[in-house]
Amino acid sequence: MAFLPNSLVTLALLSILACAAQGQLSASFYSTTCPNLQTVVRSAMAQAVAKEPRMAASILRLFFHDCFVNGCDGSILLDDTPTFTGEKSAGPNANSARGFDVIDTIKSQVEAACKATVSCADILALATRDGVNLLGGPTWTVQLGRRDARTASQSAANSNLPGPGSSLSTLISMFAAKGLSASDMTALSGAHTIGQAQCQFFRGRITGGDTNINATFAALRRQTCPMTGGNSNLAPIDVQSPIKFDNGYYQDLVGRRGLFHSDQELFNGGSQDSLVRLYSTNGAKFAADFAKAMIKLGNLSPLTGSNGEVRLNCRKVN
Ligand code: HEM
Repeated sequence: MAFLPNSLVTLALLSILACAAQGQLSASFYSTTCPNLQTVVRSAMAQAVAKEPRMAASILRLFFHDCFVNGCDGSILLDDTPTFTGEKSAGPNANSARGFDVIDTIKSQVEAACKATVSCADILALATRDGVNLLGGPTWTVQLGRRDARTASQSAANSNLPGPGSSLSTLISMFAAKGLSASDMTALSGAHTIGQAQCQFFRGRITGGDTNINATFAALRRQTCPMTGGNSNLAPIDVQSPIKFDNGYYQDLVGRRGLFHSDQELFNGGSQDSLVRLYSTNGAKFAADFAKAMIKLGNLSPLTGSNGEVRLNCRKVN
């Protein structure tokens, strides 16, 4: 910087310091400390998704459930211990959140390439992006530099995550509480274009609880989700293409084939109807908005700098 006037040098230094003080994430965070990071994560996810395409969905959901509970800090990955009850056993996650073993596999490969350098929270953010893209969805630049929490909050997991019976106003306010707009919420809900759900979460809707439902669709779902029993029987959330990341979810909603009550709330005569209609016919617009909203989701209250730690094993604090 010898050729720059002093004032410019000072300005550059000040802005670097300001970045650090605000704890901002950066795309190049590991470019010198772990240059192969993104290649390692991508190929591990490619393997996992080839073995089981649903895994892309399961990892995406883990990321959402991590970020919505005190920020994207890998807290959902911590195992319960005799003296600590974390997020894994919270209502929205118990017997439902999955993919932890895949995160462990990626973490051990990343540790082999770059010891004690990359946080579990960042690995989850990268794996999520790659899973979406591997199923045909968009890609985006993942901001990095998150650190891992030393704790987790079961009560926050129970109160901050929306449930499948939520109304539109509840959904909007729960996302607003995280600084996400109603449009962000509608775009992020397009994640339900992939993955599976258990009967217990949509039984009410298909057995007479909802009027805004296509009768043929309800009858189809009742074949494997009876009035009693079969609580954990699975059904695709997007009836059309559950292993393709496309705009089929919004077409389902317009056809009143949303699986959860909460899904159909986005197209039930309310404020999100027009956006749902737009996404149902314009897959490229959905893909672009989804990517933008995922970056916002990933920026929720990260631990940075010397806060938290880089966990060596994603399941336990160092
Ligand atoms: C808007 C409020 C939301 C509600 C009420 C909701 C609720 C649910 C429920 C009940 C399941 C089924 C879990 C099971 O059967 O074990 C599920 C699955 C899923 N959710 Fe959501 N979700 C919401 C938003 C989101 C968001 C924002 C994302 C990601 C950005 C997401 C991603 C997923 C994925 C990918 C699955 C399938 C997981 C798998 O197959 O393992 N969801 N969601």
